[in-house]
Amino acid sequence: MQEYISAIDIGTTKICVLTAQVTYDGLGQLSLRLLGEGVAPSRGIRRGVVVDVPEATAAVGEAIQKCEQDAGRPILSAYVGIAGSHIGTRNSRGVSPVDRRSGVTSADMQRALEGARAVVLPENQAVIHTLARTWTVDGETEVQQPIGMNAHRLEVDAHIVTGSNTAIHNLVQCVGAHGIDVDELVLEPLAANEAVLRPEERRMGVAVVDMGGGTSDLALFIDNALAHTAILDMGGNHLTNDVAVGLRCPFETAEEIKLRYGSLLPERIAPDETVWASVFGEKAERSFSRRFICDVLEARAAEMIETLADKLAENGWIDRLPAGVVLTGGCSQLPGFAELGRSTLGMPVRVGAAQSSLPIAGLTRTLLTPSYATSVGLLLWGLHEDARSVHQRYEADHGNSSKQKWMGAAARWLKALLPDRD
Ligand SMILES: Nc1ncnc2c1ncn2[C@@H]1O[C@H](COP(=O)(O)OP(=O)(O)OP(=O)(O)O)[C@@H](O)[C@H]1O
Ligand SMILES: [Mg+2]
Repeated sequence: MQEYISAIDIGTTKICVLTAQVTYDGLGQLSLRLLGEGVAPSRGIRRGVVVDVPEATAAVGEAIQKCEQDAGRPILSAYVGIAGSHIGTRNSRGVSPVDRRSGVTSADMQRALEGARAVVLPENQAVIHTLARTWTVDGETEVQQPIGMNAHRLEVDAHIVTGSNTAIHNLVQCVGAHGIDVDELVLEPLAANEAVLRPEERRMGVAVVDMGGGTSDLALFIDNALAHTAILDMGGNHLTNDVAVGLRCPFETAEEIKLRYGSLLPERIAPDETVWASVFGEKAERSFSRRFICDVLEARAAEMIETLADKLAENGWIDRLPAGVVLTGGCSQLPGFAELGRSTLGMPVRVGAAQSSLPIAGLTRTLLTPSYATSVGLLLWGLHEDARSVHQRYEADHGNSSKQKWMGAAARWLKALLPDRD
């Protein structure tokens, strides 16, 4: 079991590093106490992917340093979020024979998952997660926990998440350069789900969308298991860009205007309300109609929600999500996103952030906003991992001492064995 858990969320706009101490209440419940947080603006990251290793490494270093100072202790290893359009997902099946005398063992489950994982990958892709969706024991489907069941044959429906070797390598390098081991790479929407979804939503069927600066990352949960993931190439920067183009002003000015005056409910803005901004080529500021700015934002946001609707319509997912959609990430804070989502998608839509009821003491107000849901979720992912003593169990079983834990199968196998993360 780890005594400390740290998380590194490398986003397109900001990098957030958190470190926490694992606490044990004596009744078998593990929780966390936040020791430090460090946030720095991103550099060298585009659409969730490292595009300039030295720049990104320096920015990551800044956030790490702030967090270490805040916590008063160094970070040795961390759970690191991964996203970007290089991410691929697919479903796959694996089978294992079972010895009737012993019933299903964890080794059988591992063997089935290994089979599922043995898919032919496109060139330059590596497996990041192998997550069990459902188990089938001798034809009996939807078994939650097959261990010990008397059977001949065990099958698994697994969800495989892959990423580009280059993107993975660059990300690990940015963290490793600071002497920090990667405990595990975690797909960002999976981390976000830990922080924002309620157990009953995950049981009923829900989509979580982490709307960041560069991308919007989607994860669907049905019957308590991950059903589908996708990365949508759109985020808050697209909204800011549209304002910058519409007003012919610098990106930074447009960002400030978006944050201060932006809304997706233009009909609620007085038609004569004006906003002043400096534009290219003119010394004096110019005035703009606030409603015009909000119309620009609404047009792009509507396109974003329509893209989401198309994704949800694929394979009929939309009919399997009675709990609707939970929007999170910085971009979801634009007033009116939930309303726009509800009217376009025709289903429940709410904006979610980490809740103060989570098993983490000391979360600051900033960390309880949607912008930091993924960062907090990474800590929770680590906590759940720790609760299952994943690394220890694996290392005890296999004597693995590899530094490159992200490549090691430990976390993948054991998490996949235990898909219920409530
Ligand atoms: N209060 C707010 N209202 C509207 N937009 C906001 C608000 N706060 C942040 N944003 C927007 O959210 C975006 C950043 O979100 P977030 O911090 O989740 O992104 P990130 O994690 O850096 O990026 P990504 O996850 O896409 O790589 C920016 O576009 C920013 O303008
Ligand atoms: Mg993010």
